[in-house]
Amino acid sequence: MSKVKIINKPCQKDAAKRPEVERVFANRNVPEILKSFAKGRYFYIRTYGCQANIRDEEVMAGFLSEAGFERTYDQAKADVAIINTCAVRENAEEKIYGEIGSFKANHTKNKDFILIIAGCVMGEDGVGESLIATYPFISLVIGTHDVAKINDLIAEHLKEKKSIVDIRSFSSEIVENLPSIRLDDTQAFVNIAYGCDKFCTYCIVPFTRGRERSRHIEDVVAECKKLVDDGYKQITLLGQNVNSYGLDLKDGTTFARLLEEVAKLGVPRLRFLTSYPSQFDDEMIDIMAKYDNIDKWLHFPVQSGSSSCLRRMARRYTREEYLERVAAIKKKIPDISLTTDIIVGFPGETEEEFQDTLSLAKEVGYSSAFTFIYSPRPGTPAAKMEQVPPEVSHERFNRLKALVDDLTATHSGAMVGKTYEVLVDGTSKRDSNVLSGYARNGKLVNFVGPAYLTGCFVKVKILESHVYSLKGEMVEDPLVAKARDVAFHMEHDPLLREYASLNNEISSDPEIKAMGEDLVKAKKELALSMGTDKHKEKKEEYEALLMKIHNHPLLQNRDALTERVESELIAIRDSIK
Ligand code: SAH
Ligand code: SF4
Ligand code: F3S
Repeated sequence: MSKVKIINKPCQKDAAKRPEVERVFANRNVPEILKSFAKGRYFYIRTYGCQANIRDEEVMAGFLSEAGFERTYDQAKADVAIINTCAVRENAEEKIYGEIGSFKANHTKNKDFILIIAGCVMGEDGVGESLIATYPFISLVIGTHDVAKINDLIAEHLKEKKSIVDIRSFSSEIVENLPSIRLDDTQAFVNIAYGCDKFCTYCIVPFTRGRERSRHIEDVVAECKKLVDDGYKQITLLGQNVNSYGLDLKDGTTFARLLEEVAKLGVPRLRFLTSYPSQFDDEMIDIMAKYDNIDKWLHFPVQSGSSSCLRRMARRYTREEYLERVAAIKKKIPDISLTTDIIVGFPGETEEEFQDTLSLAKEVGYSSAFTFIYSPRPGTPAAKMEQVPPEVSHERFNRLKALVDDLTATHSGAMVGKTYEVLVDGTSKRDSNVLSGYARNGKLVNFVGPAYLTGCFVKVKILESHVYSLKGEMVEDPLVAKARDVAFHMEHDPLLREYASLNNEISSDPEIKAMGEDLVKAKKELALSMGTDKHKEKKEEYEALLMKIHNHPLLQNRDALTERVESELIAIRDSIK
């Protein structure tokens, strides 16, 4: 395919524009040409990067499923493949070239194969176009602002038989009513805002995801309520900077208020990513302390412990201000588990500035940390600053890593001997008898247990610390944990709830009660009429009554649900084998 149609191409300079934002609804109509193409065909998605990209994957999977495609996890079987890219650190572009190469076989085997490149790298000037120039078999290059148009764009590609580029650098829309196929049925991510307004000088994200746009609070709460009703046990609210949520709505909405409203819905575990230290105010600390279901784990990226370095990064706080926030948090939430992101080798970083980072990490006592070597990102201000030689960055990185390992070991070591509630993710890849899951403080715990506990909360005593994971043992009967889980689902499952409430309604309905009594009477009269000339009449009366009962709308509704309830209960029973 040699023809290319460009609908929009990125212009990183435009990413700083702030258009008026409009709330719109996704177009869920599937074009006919796509419907017939999708029949019997499979889609495959590979995602890199952060939760924002994972959420985009779920939405794209939602659209493709609505078109009629089925999902496959086998690359060789893919008729439509999406590479969902991340641009945050080095070599993103080179990696994609290799990735695309691995799909050549699909293209050779299948002349209708559709390859889509999506995600944050596409927001960089010129990358999408040069990818198509190298690999003309790419069908579609799509930006992060355009995932809701995926079905229309594939249809356009099918119709026009051209490669299509549609990447905007800013968006004036918040799209609601998005379809989605979530990757997990226990824990879910919910976007609360898109984009970022901070423009830290090292960071590409504001260029790839545009200016900050908050979703309306009612839309976020409704999505969370649906998840709670569906029995989800963990919700993570997502935004590049959750603490500035609502500011652009200009109606007084704050993140603290949103967090409280979601906490009140009663989801067992609630968390959020990512916090911006100077905007993490006292009200936020109070809400976190007040609700037991908000995890006492806070990801609190510092980036550097040096005020001068932070200034060059355009982070809007000093070392002292950061430490003041940490002290305020620890005072009200003494058992808080704090994690962070740190960049080493930021342009101009001196040994003294690096020492400030080491001493800050020690002072805070992080329970764990992500550490990154600074990587120049195209079009960002720091890329033009004076760079630190790679060998200096690497040497500092190793020193920082050793410290982070120590801090992590200290935090994990202090967990030994104590009991934690673990939300089980699944069985370990190495040993199917071992289950893995996370404690509320964000630590990974492994323990021996039956696979049917996947998705359940289990009480686990920690026996050993392996620094980045912990080994424990169950301190309760697995059946007890499972029974608690089934009770939780009974309470939250919309089908079982509807069934139970329908039964309550039926048993207290005066008309049904009267019909029941009439039926008993009619049955008795039918028996007494045996052998008399009244028998035929009594039989007809009895059968008419039976029919009337059968046709009662409430009872009809219950009959319609019975089979589904039965199969759901059988599935629960079978899951314990
Ligand atoms: N909005 C979040 C996450 C941004 S990306 C936040 O502000 O924390 C996740 C992490 O990647 C950042 O916290 C930062 O530590 C790291 N990062 C971002 N750009 C980088 C770059 N150019 N080089 C190295 N690390 C980077
Ligand atoms: Fe990037 Fe800074 Fe925004 Fe985080 S807050 S996404 S690091 S610009
Ligand atoms: Fe990467 Fe984009 Fe997330 S650059 S970290 S996927 S916002």
